[in-house]
This record gives sequence, structure tokens and C-alpha cells, in this order.
Amino acid sequence: PSIAASIAESEVIFIAVPTPPNTDGSVDLTYIEKVAREIAQALQPEMGYKVIVDKSTVPVKTGEKVSQTIKHYAGPNVQFDIVSNPEFLREGCAVDDLLHPDRIVIGANSEQAMNVIRRVYQPIHAPILETDVNSAELIKHAANSFLALKISYINAVAKVCEKTGADVELVAEGIGMDKRISRHFLNAGLGYGGSCFPKDVKAFINISRTLGIPFTLLEEVEHINDTQHIHFRDRLWVLKDKKIAVWGLAFKQNTDDVRESIALKLCEKLCGEGAIVTATDPKAMHTAAPILTPMGVKLVEDMYECARDAEVLVIATEWSEYANADLQKLAGVMRNRIIFDGRNILSPANLRAVGFEYHSVGRPSVEEA
Ligand code: UGA
Repeated sequence: PSIAASIAESEVIFIAVPTPPNTDGSVDLTYIEKVAREIAQALQPEMGYKVIVDKSTVPVKTGEKVSQTIKHYAGPNVQFDIVSNPEFLREGCAVDDLLHPDRIVIGANSEQAMNVIRRVYQPIHAPILETDVNSAELIKHAANSFLALKISYINAVAKVCEKTGADVELVAEGIGMDKRISRHFLNAGLGYGGSCFPKDVKAFINISRTLGIPFTLLEEVEHINDTQHIHFRDRLWVLKDKKIAVWGLAFKQNTDDVRESIALKLCEKLCGEGAIVTATDPKAMHTAAPILTPMGVKLVEDMYECARDAEVLVIATEWSEYANADLQKLAGVMRNRIIFDGRNILSPANLRAVGFEYHSVGRPSVEEA
């Protein structure tokens, strides 16, 4: 049905449009504004009270703007409230996250709107946090930025581990056993990618700067993330004319999404230095091909064929297929038994047993026997 027809029939209208980044890191709100106008033009006083729920990730105070826009474009006497209901699901486990969330955040400025959305979520058993609209909007950016901060924090700790021979896995376990910290999102690696963390950290930096209170801590979180794969590359030697195999192109496991994927940034860096790069991914070959093929990267479906004759194997995404790789088979196809594991998914002890040289992030290396 058209927007107008579905608005006439519905008591609750969810806005779930993209909010992509502008080049300066601010959030592009043109889709939100457009949909607000479309809703306004469809609203009629005789339709009764409507609750317009924003699910998209938006800067704090966007709800106020949406409300003003609707008032400007709607006729007189329409009755509505705006609710902010941020989404916390992750790609790859979206349905499970939707049905079993850690919490549901409902930001409303009227009891009438809050009641309607409470009813919507009644079938889902999860703690509900009720807030005002501004707080709910802020929670999403603050939550994603905090998770990004945890990742950058452990990546910074990993560098200290590399210099000292400490093992970041044990350090993460030790600090994560404190319930106030928790072990989740303390996996060191090549850094975070995807369509959410990079964009939301940038947006939160931009929002704070615009408010005249620069959030310099988040600038450092971003800097650590931006430089993590370069630091990783610098541990390899001369790359020119080297055959490098890359396992993993998606920004994380269980998705074909390559948006802001660190794996692709790494491939670009390797190619830029004259390496001969072969890459594979269980799901993301078709999404990565338009970016990687013009760079000269050869895409190979089978992970062992991808590694054939390679002088170094780089693991760039945390797929379970790679964590469970047949190391004997891998040893049989590679030219040199050297692995750089950017996601810490292999076990150093297993690699030592098969005679690999193995480097990972923040864990002691296994040198060639
Ligand atoms: C993220 C949040 O986890 C969701 O709660 C949120 O709803 C979503 O953004 C969103 O804003 O829509 P998502 O981007 O799907 O979800 O992916 P994550 O599972 O959070 O992973 C993001 C990146 O962090 C990946 O590149 C992953 O490899 C990396 N990561 C994750 C680490 O490097 N270390 C970790 O310990 C965890």
C-alpha cells in the first residue's frame, strides 16, 4: 500500500530509513525529513491519534525536528506524538536480537504515546527503559560509541602486549571477569568495521563538536581504529611481488556486508604496495568483487585454493570456517607456512604443532621451528 493508505490504517508508524554519513561525519537526515513530510501530507484530523516512532539512528533532538516538520506540512488539528525507539540488533543475528533483546528503550514525551508503544512490545519479554525522546536518541549513539571504545581500548592494550610478550586474550579474560567490565567486545583484532560503529562514532564526535563540547576521547577511539590495520601491515616485511592470500572480506562473520570492512582496507594497502593478492570469503565474494577486482585482487571460492602458493596468509574476518581450518591441508598448499591472523581465531599451540610461523594481534608469536 501507499504511505498515505498505510498511515490511514495504522495507529503506530515506524520510521526506519537509512541515515548515512555526510563527508564531514555528520548524519544525512534527508530521508528522515522526506518521510516526515510524506507522513505530514497523509495525516488528516479524522484519522485520530497517531504515534510516529523513529527507529533510525539519529542525532539527539531529531525527534523535535521531525515533530516541527510534521506540524509545518500537515493541516491543522492532526494529533500525533513522536517516539524514539532505537534499534540495537546486530547484522547476522537480527531476528534473535529482535526477539530477545537485552533491553527495549522507549523515549516518549507523553504518557499516551508511551502506553501505545508499551502495548506494541508486550509480547517481547525484555526489560524496558522508558525515557524522554532526547535521552533515547542519545542512548543509541552513546551505546555504539561505548562498544567501539571497548574494541579500541583492547586494541591499544594489544599493542602493549605485543611489546612486552603478554597475551591480550588472557588480559581480556582477566579484566572481563569483572562484571562491571564484562568480557564481551574485548576481542582484539584489526578493528571495527560495518555500517554502524564507524558512522556512529563519527556522528557522535560531530554532534558533540557542534554542541561546543568536543568529545576528544572518541576522536582517539576512531584514531586507534583507523590505524590498527596499518600497524598490523607494518609487522609484515617487504610486500612487493609477494603472494598474499587473504581469508575474509566481510566486515564480520555471518554477513555478506563489506561496508567499511577493514579486510578491504587491508587488501587495498597490500595491492598498493605491489603484493599479488588472492582473496576469499564464504559469503561476501559478490559484494567485494566490484571493489577488489579493479584493484587486481584475484577472488577464489575455495579457501585452500586461495592459499595455494601463498607466501603469507592473512586472516581478516572472524569466520568459524577459518577458525576450524584443516591446518595440515593448509600447510600442504602454501609456499611458506606463515600466517598473520588479524582476528586471533587460530590457536598458537595448534599452529606450532604443524610447524607454522604465526603472528596474531597482541598474542606472543609462534616462530618457525
Ligand atoms: C552494531 C551493534 O553491535 C548493534 O548493537 C547495533 O544495533 C548495530 O551496530 C547498529 O547500530 O545498527 P553490527 O554493526 O551489526 O552491530 O556488528 P557488531 O557485531 O557489533 O560488530 C561490529 C564490528 O566490530 C565488526 O567489524 C567486528 O569484527 C568488530 N568487533 C566486534 C571487534 O573487533 N571486536 C569485538 O570484540 C567485537
